[in-house]
Order: sequence, then C-alpha cells, then structure tokens
Amino acid sequence: MTLPGTDATQREWTRRELLRAGAAGALLATMPGCAGPAGNTASSRTQTHHSRVFRFVHLTDIHVQRELNGDKGFAKALTAVEALRPRPEFILTGGDLVFDAFEVTPQRAKELFTLYKKIVADNTSLTVHPCLGNHDIFGWKSPGVDSRSPGYGKAMAMDYLGMSDSCYHFDYHGWRFFVLDNIQSAANEDGYRGGLSPQQTEWLADALRQTPAAQPIVVCEHIPLITVTAFAHEGMMTDGAWRFRDNFVCGDATARLKLLRERNVRLSLSGHIHERDRIEYCGTTFINDGAVCGAWWKGPNRGVEEGFGVIDVRDDGSFDHQYFDYGWQAVAES
Ligand SMILES: [Fe+2]
Repeated sequence: MTLPGTDATQREWTRRELLRAGAAGALLATMPGCAGPAGNTASSRTQTHHSRVFRFVHLTDIHVQRELNGDKGFAKALTAVEALRPRPEFILTGGDLVFDAFEVTPQRAKELFTLYKKIVADNTSLTVHPCLGNHDIFGWKSPGVDSRSPGYGKAMAMDYLGMSDSCYHFDYHGWRFFVLDNIQSAANEDGYRGGLSPQQTEWLADALRQTPAAQPIVVCEHIPLITVTAFAHEGMMTDGAWRFRDNFVCGDATARLKLLRERNVRLSLSGHIHERDRIEYCGTTFINDGAVCGAWWKGPNRGVEEGFGVIDVRDDGSFDHQYFDYGWQAVAES
C-alpha cells in the first residue's frame, strides 16, 4: 500500500493547492487571541511557489517484546516504513520503545533494549531519532533496584540508544525538530508524571529563543501536551470537574503553550494514549498518534489500529499527516 503524494522527495505545489493553503492560513490568522510570531501568517507561508517536500515517520509506543509476537510486529512496521514511496528520510520515535523497563529486573530491561536495537538494525537503514517514554525508564518501580543500580532511571535507555541528552534538537532542510523527555519521577501510584523539569524548561526556553522566529518547528514528546482523548475516558469527571492526571496530560501545559506561541511551532507530536487525535490551537497542530503496538500487541486499542504517522513537510511551514495502518494482526486479540 502506498500513500498518495509525490513520486519524488521534491515537487512543486499547484496553484490550486497554494490558494487552498492561503485560505486556511487566512482563517487561522484572524482567530482572536492567537497572534503568532512574525512570519506565521497565511501570506508569508504561501509566498513560496517552489516548496521542497520531505517525509518522515513518527513511530510511537512500540512496546517491543517477544511476547505476543511484538518483535515480529515491530519488524513489520519498519518494513512498511521502508516500503513507503516517497521513502521517509528519517524515523522519529515517540517513546515507550520497550515493554517494559519501568518495573522489571536489570536483565529483562537489558534484553528488551538489545532486542529493540537488533530489530532496528535488521529492518531499516534510516536514521532513528529516539524519544523516551515512561516504559523506557529503568527501575523506578523495580523491586530491589535503587538509584545506585547501574543504568537506573533514564541512563540505561540513553546508553543503549546513544543519547547524550534526553532533550535535544536537530535541523533538517530548514525545519527544527525538538525531541523532549517529559517523564519525571513522582510519588503517585504510577511513579511518574508528565512535564519538563525546571532545568529542561530553561533549556527549551533558551533553545527556542535562539531559533529564528520564522523557522518552522516540530516538537516531539511522549506524554501529550494537550489531548481531547481524555474526554472519552471513564473516570475523568468527578464532582462536576474534569480531572486530568499529570501522567495522562503534561502538568506544565499552560506554561509551555505560552512558550511555544513565541515561535513558529507548526506541529506537536505525542503518543502515550494509544489513540489518535488532532487539535488545531493557536497556529500549532497537536497530533496524538496511535501506537505501533495498538493495545500492547493485543489488537487495536479503542478501535485504533496498530500504526504510525507519516508526515510530509514543506519548506513554507505546511505539512500533511496521515495515519498508516501497517496491517498487523494480533495473535490473540483482547
Ligand atoms: Fe505506551
């Protein structure tokens, strides 16, 4: 199965597409309370008549394991990535790469990261940009493991994945990609919460300040900054108030939304929920992608098939996102 699009990584927009994008952008620019940075307007985004296109994929919530053939499922997803035309230029992961490092023995966690790396090496030659999820953190709830244990916390994943920092950014054809680590230790029943630490927030604010105001930005993190999926989950409404826990949605969303508005953040990608939504808010599109593993390799989750995001971006700051069902059939559906 191929996606509609270009047959090369570069194409020109038709006049009709440019007019359509301009109309959408004009609507966005007139929304009250959503003034964006200089350059983030319809007219500036549609001046370019020869837009370069490149494609990347967003693979989140892989949860690799040998049980339920999760290893074969991940290999199939990567094979599907390689078969896409146009071919993606890199893979952005969304965290929860393994299942699970959070509450297992050191041996089990190491086996899973070894398995993850082997499947990647055997099935794709694309660059893979790692992102940490809560299940990638070693030992926060493992019996007999503490902060003196080798690889404790984020160290094991970062070591296996070759990460020198858990928050980082890179540039690709004029776009800046921020990959954030929004998993923090917490004294709640799950042992973690979503949000950046004060040091990470400072780093992000500084890095955004150093990013040109018009440069298009993609942010990728595990726990969503905002998501509408919460409204469909039982137990979120109590005593007449919606209550979203900060391990479902990032607790620092208010401060970070303000930060993002200061720059040209076109797209914010997340995972964690194993469902899908898309929110347009103040010039940024927030996409929560479905999981590569669906319902932890037991079939689709709440009707969302096992899959990943395919994103085609253009140098005028616009993009297309499609959710790609790579055709996995669970061995035993829940
Ligand atoms: Fe997950």
